[in-house]
Formats: sequence, C-alpha cells, structure tokens
Amino acid sequence: MGFILAAAGSAIGLGNIWRFPYVAGESGGGAFLILYLGMVFTIGFSVMLGELAIGRAARRNPVGAFAALKGGAWTYVGYMGVLAGFVILSYYSVIGGWTLAYTWATLGPLLENTDTGELGAYFSDFIADPTQTIAYHGLFMAITIAIVMGGIEKGIERAAKFLMPVLFVMLVALCIRALTLPGAWAGVEFFVIPDWSRVNTETVNAALSQAFFSLSLGMGALLTYGSYLSRSERLPSVAMWVTSLDTVIALLAGFLILPAVFAFGYDPAAGPGLTFVTLPAVFAKMPGGGLFGPVFFALLSVAAITSAVSLLETVVAYAIDETSSNRKPATLAMGVVVFFIGVPSALSFGPWSDFKLFGKTFLDLMDYLASNLLLPFGGIAIAVFVGWAVSQRMMTEVFGGATLPARVWLWMLRTVAPAAIIWILISGL
Ligand code: PHE
Repeated sequence: MGFILAAAGSAIGLGNIWRFPYVAGESGGGAFLILYLGMVFTIGFSVMLGELAIGRAARRNPVGAFAALKGGAWTYVGYMGVLAGFVILSYYSVIGGWTLAYTWATLGPLLENTDTGELGAYFSDFIADPTQTIAYHGLFMAITIAIVMGGIEKGIERAAKFLMPVLFVMLVALCIRALTLPGAWAGVEFFVIPDWSRVNTETVNAALSQAFFSLSLGMGALLTYGSYLSRSERLPSVAMWVTSLDTVIALLAGFLILPAVFAFGYDPAAGPGLTFVTLPAVFAKMPGGGLFGPVFFALLSVAAITSAVSLLETVVAYAIDETSSNRKPATLAMGVVVFFIGVPSALSFGPWSDFKLFGKTFLDLMDYLASNLLLPFGGIAIAVFVGWAVSQRMMTEVFGGATLPARVWLWMLRTVAPAAIIWILISGL
C-alpha cells in the first residue's frame, strides 16, 4: 500500500489536473482521449513495469542501474533521465508556484467571479509578474527541497496517504457541480465523442507525450522508486494500480474542466491557463465555494509537491550514489541549480514573453523538449533494454520466469512499444 501510494504520488500531479485538460482541449477532445487511454494501458503500462523492474533489480539510481545491469552505452540512458529530471522540475516548479499562489488568490480577489474574461485577465496579469512567479517558484522548490532532505518516507508519504483521498473526494464533488451547470453537456460531448477528423500526427504525438508525462515514465523516477522496493512486492499489480489511479484522476479532471469551459463560454484550446481560469468560476457556483477553492488549490499543491519530490529524488539519488555525497548537501545543491534553470520559465509569460523559439515560449520549449523528446526517447531505450538487453533477468524479476504474461510483456517491449514510439516521433518531426 505504502509503495503504491508513493508511486501514485509521483504520477498524480499537475500532469493530470493542469496538463491533461488543456492538452485534450487543444487536441480536439474525444479522439485524443481514446488515443491517450490506448497508449496508457499498452505502452505506458509495459514501460512502467520495465522501469520498476530495472530499479528493483539494480537497487540504484538510473545512471548506476544501467551501468550495473549492462554498462557501456546504456549508461547514457541513465544520464538522459537525470537531465530530463532537471528540465522537467525546473518548469514544473513554476506551475507548482502558480498553484500555491492560487491558494491565496481564491481566498480573495477571485472569489465569486464567473466571468472567464476577467478570470483570464487576472491569470495573465499574475503569470506576467516576475516578482510573484519567481517568489512562488522559489517557495515551491524550497518545500520540495525540505522534503527530499528529510527522506521521502517520513513526512510526505504519511501526509499523502491522508491528503490524496481528500483531493479525490473534492474532485468528485467539483465534477458533479461542473456537470450540472447549464451548458456543461457540450463539454462532455467534446471530451468523449471522437471527432476523427481532428486526428493527425500532432494529436498522436500529444497523446504519447501526455501518457509519459502523466505516468512519470521515461526518465527514471519510477526506476528510482523501484530501487527502494522490497522483493516480496508483486510488480505487475503495483504497475496496474498506479496506471489506473493516475487515469482515474485525469478522467475526473477532464470531466470537471471541459464541461466548465463550455458552461462558462471559454475556449477549450486556450492553452496552459485552462484549469486556472475555469476552476475559480466553478468554485463561485458552489455553496461554500469560498472555502472549497483555497482547500482545493492547497491539495493540488500537495499533489504537485509529491510529484516534484520524485523528480528531485531521482536527481539527488544519482548525486548521492555516484559522487558519494551526503543527502542534505546533495539535495540543496541540486535544488538550487533547478531553481535557477527554472527562472527563465518563470519569466516566460512576462518580461521574457518576446523570446520565442519555434513559436514557443521558454516554458513551452522546456516542456516540449522534455515531454515530446526526452521522455519518449527514454521510453524506447527502457523498452529495448528490458526487452532485448537483459530480458531473461527481467522476466525472472517480474514474473518469476518465462510465463505467458511475461512473454506478452516482453513482446510489447521488444516490438510494439519501440516501433510505435519511433513512428510517432519521426512523423512528429
Ligand atoms: N507525473 C507527474 C504529473 O503528472 C509529473 C512527472 C513527470 C513526475 C515525470 C515525475 C517524472 O504531474
């Protein structure tokens, strides 16, 4: 139970509640949803099982694990993962900072407002303010650093055990409120009825990237968590639990945000602000919304922190194992570096909003680099590694031998997963 919750704590976060609804909105809804679910339960599940198995077999950080199990060029897969950890955490913390800020904002200025024009303007002004975005980014990193310094099991695991179920109950309540708003049904139709004409390489690419991002795959976070896992744990059921819990939360967020978008006449393709603009409007329509709003954003911050902790832990585990430094200085050093890499992302909707590469702001660029390139490449590498390089050992690690499920799994990792990811990446380019 404890491990499933820790791994689910890594998977469930801003990816589900901030990223999933807006990517689904940009990608046309229903068709994206089906592609996403298909990828999560085939490629996603198999790669997750592979990552957990590598970690538990090697009992090391990503770099050390690839080095110990096979060595040679495989070690670079571990380095790529650690690099992805730096990149993702740098902007993840900026969005985490927005979430912290909205905990106070929904207490005051955003109370009782359902005008998406005004809520959108408030959001744009907020993310354009360098002092606030950097300060909240710093606060979010400071909390993450403090938790990773203390060792993850003590504080955060215990807190998450209690707080995540509360977040779940609140999400269900919000969903019910959003679905019963006048005009909400158009959002449900948009979310579940596939419009196949909207499917193109970009949609497929978005679904794959979202699957990797949301399940925390492709950079060694779950590998690192797996390295702390006991031999008696059954990995397939762990992976199935984590995959399913993550999917349920993403679906709830979709059935909350998209109906609200339609009910309040907002644009589903509005981008990264979608959740931040529509949620306050839903709170305003709830009895006791003035209390509900801040509590919800506080819990979302906790969910974001448990994910950020897994990102920082991956980088720190590498630093501790490979440079034999102590946990506290290693965490502080890595955390401060991540903070500075994140500053341009924090500025990217304000002073640096004119800086654009390939039409993307700095934050979007970091997200694209990590989610669309580093994570899928990491996924291919993990699939090929488990499927071809160390397959016998991994079959024994996970299934105790070459049973039928073990062979189906290997076949997924040997052929389907790498072929599908390569095809998606190439057509995306
Ligand atoms: N899965 C996390 C989320 O959905 C983000 C994350 C990505 C965490 C990659 C670890 C590794 O919020």
